[in-house]
Amino acid sequence: METVVSGIRSTGNLHLGNYFGALKNFIKMQHENNCFFFIADYHSLTTHPTPGDLHGSVKQVLAEYLACGLDPEAATLYLQSDVPEVTELYLLLNMNAYVGELERTTSFKDKVRKQPENVNAGLLTYPVLMAADIIIHNASKVPVGKDQEQNLEMARKFARRFNNLYKVKYFTEPQPYNFGQVLIKIPGLDGTGKMGKSEGNGIYLVDDPKDIRKKVMRAVTDSGPTEMNSEMPEPIQNLFTLMDVVSEKSTIDFFKEKYANCEIRYGDLKKQLAEDIINFTSPIREKILEISANNNYLRKVANMGAEKARESASKTIKEVREIIGFKPF
Ligand code: TRP
Repeated sequence: METVVSGIRSTGNLHLGNYFGALKNFIKMQHENNCFFFIADYHSLTTHPTPGDLHGSVKQVLAEYLACGLDPEAATLYLQSDVPEVTELYLLLNMNAYVGELERTTSFKDKVRKQPENVNAGLLTYPVLMAADIIIHNASKVPVGKDQEQNLEMARKFARRFNNLYKVKYFTEPQPYNFGQVLIKIPGLDGTGKMGKSEGNGIYLVDDPKDIRKKVMRAVTDSGPTEMNSEMPEPIQNLFTLMDVVSEKSTIDFFKEKYANCEIRYGDLKKQLAEDIINFTSPIREKILEISANNNYLRKVANMGAEKARESASKTIKEVREIIGFKPF
């Protein structure tokens, strides 16, 4: 059994791409490993949310993950800011993280470009906090996407550097979690590329049926095939990829045949796709609304998670303090 840690960004609602990507794997993984999943609310301060926005988005993210099936009994589910031990490890790791290497991180350089008016030290040391999140539980595996590979590599570097500096074999160097099968990439509705928050092409789990119909009906298509059995251009293929995850096989076959025969009517296809998406998201959406109205439950989940996470984190901090040389008289 591996110890797995993953941080969840605390901004934005979950869309279908998130659901069929990382989230489905988390749900499976939580029963097979010792999983620590947390909402990275300290990290989100790098963009200066208002107190109301911070609280609201953390609550929303927690409710959405629970509604999708993250199980607080199976995994340790907590808020980063409920585990102050993380900030202590962050401080300690900062002492041997070098400004030069932090400045060279791709995600830092991106942020400098995107928010030149707010290049704060928290952004610079983002990978150090992320390393602390991971090694505080001595995790061996971290499920990460492409955009987080460099951060994970830095976590390994900081773990290794600590071990070398104090001549110990204390921290495990965390490796990427391998999902086994290839991840399904959910495309957006704008013809090219994947579904994403910043692309503004997403269908969210909390979208109501009316919105979903509107979004799907507006999806990019073309003027239709003119030759029998012709290859599908990307925008059309994308609609079928969405169907693959929400529709019955018979429905998919029906429209594929229509396409092959040049008899396809995109309006019909979109109507069907919208209804199938609605069927899929409706129960989740209801669950999200139900959970976010239940503060008692959310509090219970957060308290339980904080307790479990702090048990593991405080053990690490105690040992790290001893290794470094902080000792009681
Ligand atoms: N940086 C990650 C992201 O943007 C979130 C994150 C914070 C994280 N701490 C982590 C992911 C620790 C994995 C492990 O998605």
